[in-house]
Amino acid sequence: MFERLKPVPIDPILGLMNSFREDSRHNKIDLGVGVYQDDSGQTPIMTSVKKAEFQLLEDENTKTYQGMTGDSDYNDRLSSLIFGEDNPILKSGRFCTLQAPGGSGALRVGAEVIARTKSSPAIWVGTPTWANHIPIMEKTGLKINTYPYYDFETHTICFDEMIEALKKIPKDDIVLLHGCCHNPTGADLSSDQWKQVCATAHRNGFIPFIDIAYQGLGNGLEKDAYGIRELASQLPELIVASSCSKNFGLYRERTGAVSFICNDSDQTKIVLSHAMSSARSLYSMPPAHGALLVSSVLGDPKLREEWEIELESVRLRIQLMRDLLCEKLRGNQKGKDFSHIKHQKGMFSFLGISSEEVDTLRAKYGVYMVGSTRINLAGININNIDYLSECILKVI
Ligand SMILES: Cc1ncc(COP(=O)(O)O)c(C=O)c1O
Repeated sequence: MFERLKPVPIDPILGLMNSFREDSRHNKIDLGVGVYQDDSGQTPIMTSVKKAEFQLLEDENTKTYQGMTGDSDYNDRLSSLIFGEDNPILKSGRFCTLQAPGGSGALRVGAEVIARTKSSPAIWVGTPTWANHIPIMEKTGLKINTYPYYDFETHTICFDEMIEALKKIPKDDIVLLHGCCHNPTGADLSSDQWKQVCATAHRNGFIPFIDIAYQGLGNGLEKDAYGIRELASQLPELIVASSCSKNFGLYRERTGAVSFICNDSDQTKIVLSHAMSSARSLYSMPPAHGALLVSSVLGDPKLREEWEIELESVRLRIQLMRDLLCEKLRGNQKGKDFSHIKHQKGMFSFLGISSEEVDTLRAKYGVYMVGSTRINLAGININNIDYLSECILKVI
């Protein structure tokens, strides 16, 4: 039987990670992999999370199943973090949340529910978008369409084209949007642009599906949720997939959630029943550990304060690397403009060099990035930034 299988090509980022691991140069730099690294190049466990973990070890008295919706305290506390503590939508009966295995699991469950609403529903994704969005959505039978998002020449959102494309999207189609810290571009919608997207959705009847995987890493916890809160306050229906992989550093604990806003409480119950039934056939119950840690951190004022300080230092470190890299590349011989890096948000930006220059950086200098030139700003630190910028200046 298995002889009939052909090998699947390795994911470019995983391939890059393997090459990086095998590279013996001591000054090599990994700007490919999408995890946060601190100034010493480590992906640390947050102190607040570690404290919650010690507490959980003491207090946990069962490993029985959690149930398909997961931990209810986690669902409530994470929903408050995303939608806002006193957001009336949370208690309106039109809202429900289901704990999911990471943001990826949340996206998949959300897409599964959409796929059950009608025959061949369509989802519109911006170009470019996170590499895993299309595979996750496609698996559920959703038809994938695209709308323009980023102008590679100006390194900004091509908002006029985007909004024109959104105006043509039929009623009840789904539009995937990034809540903040757009991956891979780092280019986020402004408040005014969110308002325009919201008004267009309201007028034309498309339903936004927001992926928020980096809350707190862009402009801060509250500001990063602006778009979601705006849409939640105006629209009758909304889907949100969230992840705690980055802002709690819980990557391998698979901690996320999918939330739905529906027309009324009866529809909400039906939607939740479909989300549960999708989860049941995909993975049955979500993993508990990460969600219990997030719930403890958010539910304990001292731990929460500590976590917010830690998260803010992550955000500021990334911003500092953005500023420094931009500064060091300024006034280069080619007159190339890298200032977009300073203004963009979150872990990623496109460096905007040629594919030959990407290859040379890797082969000659041990600087690894994906062919699209997406770089993870968190892979840069005070120890490697001089070497990195010298190498970039040499190859361009
Ligand atoms: C835009 C975006 N959405 C969702 C995810 C999924 O995160 P996870 O499944 O690791 O929680 C990621 C992870 O890199 C991402 O960048």
